[in-house]
Amino acid sequence: MSARGAAASRVASAGLAIENLAVAYGGARVIEGLSLVIEPGTFFTLLGPSGCGKTTLLRTIAGFIQAAEGRLMFGATDVTRLPPHRRNIGMVFQDYALFPDKTVFDNVAYGLRARRIDEATIKGRVAKALDHVGLGHLAARHPAALSGGQRQRVALARALVIEPQVLLMDEPLSNLDAKLRVQVREVISELQREAGITTVFVTHDQDEALAMSDRIGVMNRGRLEQVGPPSAIYRDPATGYVADFVGAANLLRVELAAPAPAGSVSVGLAGSSVAARAPAALPAGQALLVARPEDITLAATALPGGPALSGTVRRRQYLGSRTEYKVELAGGTLVAVTLAGDRHDAHLPGAGVQLGFDPARTVVLAS
Ligand SMILES: Nc1ncnc2c1ncn2[C@@H]1O[C@H](COP(=O)(O)OP(=O)(O)OP(=O)(O)O)[C@@H](O)[C@H]1O
Ligand SMILES: [Mg+2]
Repeated sequence: MSARGAAASRVASAGLAIENLAVAYGGARVIEGLSLVIEPGTFFTLLGPSGCGKTTLLRTIAGFIQAAEGRLMFGATDVTRLPPHRRNIGMVFQDYALFPDKTVFDNVAYGLRARRIDEATIKGRVAKALDHVGLGHLAARHPAALSGGQRQRVALARALVIEPQVLLMDEPLSNLDAKLRVQVREVISELQREAGITTVFVTHDQDEALAMSDRIGVMNRGRLEQVGPPSAIYRDPATGYVADFVGAANLLRVELAAPAPAGSVSVGLAGSSVAARAPAALPAGQALLVARPEDITLAATALPGGPALSGTVRRRQYLGSRTEYKVELAGGTLVAVTLAGDRHDAHLPGAGVQLGFDPARTVVLAS
């Protein structure tokens, strides 16, 4: 695959605007009041657990499911009532959905033939699309004689060859083994960037989402819980749900003596106090402290000057590049702590330790 012909393959990619969307199966609403803007050329990932509505939202964007309420715009065009074939989309499914009795060439040519494009043009465009995904030499093969990764790339070429305004991908990597997933994910990222095509990618794999996306929308029960770039989703989770779903996080119940404005805040935890950051104002009482395991330090003795929060090491797992600890606080709360590298002192199970929270990276949210 090469960047050659990138300019030629650049399409008039459209942005996407979803306004107050509701989708129902029978009487049951599975998407409710969902609004979202995706800028042209963006790689946007819908991330969420099984059953939260990712496929439903994607199929509604494609036009296979009619919205019960709301509006869907591709650029300046209202596509809410348009059937799938009149929305200029390319779609890649989890199971590839290739035609087993057609060659690779004919699979990729399918959408162009359906559009009654002349054979000479088709020949050129299919050859270019196959070259692009590095499969030019396999045009005459049938899908059964391809590896999983090769099949996935045929599906990708088939979706891209029609020069869609929007590319939709529903868990396209889930049938590949771990190593191939990473390889094909690079192919997809590169092609998406070259073509500058607005892409909506569905996954429940957080690593995939963090690695590939310009922006991520975290879904929870048919709603978007948070939308933002990967670093903001990871660093500034808006809710405990997002913090818990994306990356490992300690979610600890803490006490606030008085209402606190947004900014730095001090909260009570296990008889001590912890300095943290509040993205929004907090009422007095219970709150939720979010701390990533890698943002907590351990010391054998109290750090001079720093507030001490004591605990006891309950478990230690040495993993080479890092060591993972479970530390029990007074009252029994367990905190996960990850120390990078292996050049720090080992804290053995049973040992007393002092925990240090990074105040800039520890977040307190309303519970
Ligand atoms: N055809 C259908 N008829 C009725 N309910 C459906 C139908 N398809 C999906 N649902 C329900 O709608 C909800 C959302 O399903 P959807 O397939 O969109 O989830 P998903 O996020 O894609 O999950 P997964 O990660 O497992 O693919 C689920 O509760 C599901 O049971
Ligand atoms: Mg799904």
